[in-house]
Amino acid sequence: MDGYTLTHKTPTRKDFIDTADFDQSEILDIITLSRTVRDFIKSGGYLNSLFHKNLAMLFEQKSTRTRVSFEVAMEQLGGHALNLAPGAIQLGAHETIEDTAQVLGRMCDMVMARVDRHESIEALAKYSKTPVLNGMSEKVHPTQGIGDMITIFDHWPEGKQAKDIKVVFVGDATQVCNTLCDMTTKMGMNFVHFGPTNHKITDEWLEIGRKNVEKYGGSCEWSDNPDAVEGADFIYTDVWYGLYDKETPKEVYMADFYPKYQVNIDLMASTGNPNCKFMHCLPANRNEEVTDDVLDGANSIAFDEAENRLTAQRGLVLYFGGVAQATLDYIKDQRKA
Ligand code: CP
Repeated sequence: MDGYTLTHKTPTRKDFIDTADFDQSEILDIITLSRTVRDFIKSGGYLNSLFHKNLAMLFEQKSTRTRVSFEVAMEQLGGHALNLAPGAIQLGAHETIEDTAQVLGRMCDMVMARVDRHESIEALAKYSKTPVLNGMSEKVHPTQGIGDMITIFDHWPEGKQAKDIKVVFVGDATQVCNTLCDMTTKMGMNFVHFGPTNHKITDEWLEIGRKNVEKYGGSCEWSDNPDAVEGADFIYTDVWYGLYDKETPKEVYMADFYPKYQVNIDLMASTGNPNCKFMHCLPANRNEEVTDDVLDGANSIAFDEAENRLTAQRGLVLYFGGVAQATLDYIKDQRKA
């Protein structure tokens, strides 16, 4: 792919609910688009592809990265984002999610939502006539997954092919772990969840990963053996305390994960790969799931990853906004001029 030509000129689905709904070629389209647009903007290019377009951002939970990246992305592309934080609209008090979806779908060109329950994002998608993007549910974090894969592409291990790349997610099988399992195996990489049995990635997600492996190569496993990190190119972790209303008491989660699953200098060294990169979706609970020296260390790409949330959101709003190919054509023309 030359960076300007998409396999899918328009999305095969209206909504972006779960990366598992999309095949490799479509995910690659979104990644390519996102990276080309990033490079154009970083080199001083100006885009107005979403002029007069509005994105409603519905948050049932707190957010720094998701909120800021979508708002900045819309502004940089000539559009506008509305932050509909908890308590600011009728949802949850006097109005159902279905009615909210119908109203937002009539007034806004796209809806992005972070929801307590995955069924809510599905209801939004069903009742909104405009595209709905999932800004995280308890099941998946697809916009994070696109940013993560962009980051892996940016830090691609020299001389390796996808089938040689190993990505190990350490600790609790969060929604970020589920999406990473899908994304890495969809790219033909080797994915391992290294975590305790009582926080193991579900069989459903291992099955999704294994179906990808049949199609694209690579491998997909769970292990509680520390040898699982050997040969890793990327070590990834997330917080241990859970999210939403199910936040686990500290003494419980520390007993489950500490010290075996803490990403520290020893765990990074046990990969045997001095170039192994460290990733974290953030926010981090420093010195619990990851130590300061790893998160702030030379091999940490966690803040590149955070920045790539913006890279991904630009691509996603252009793609699901239906102006992806037109934007790439414009960038190509500008570069020729
Ligand atoms: N990683 C992530 O989704 O961050 P926020 O919760 O700050 O949006």
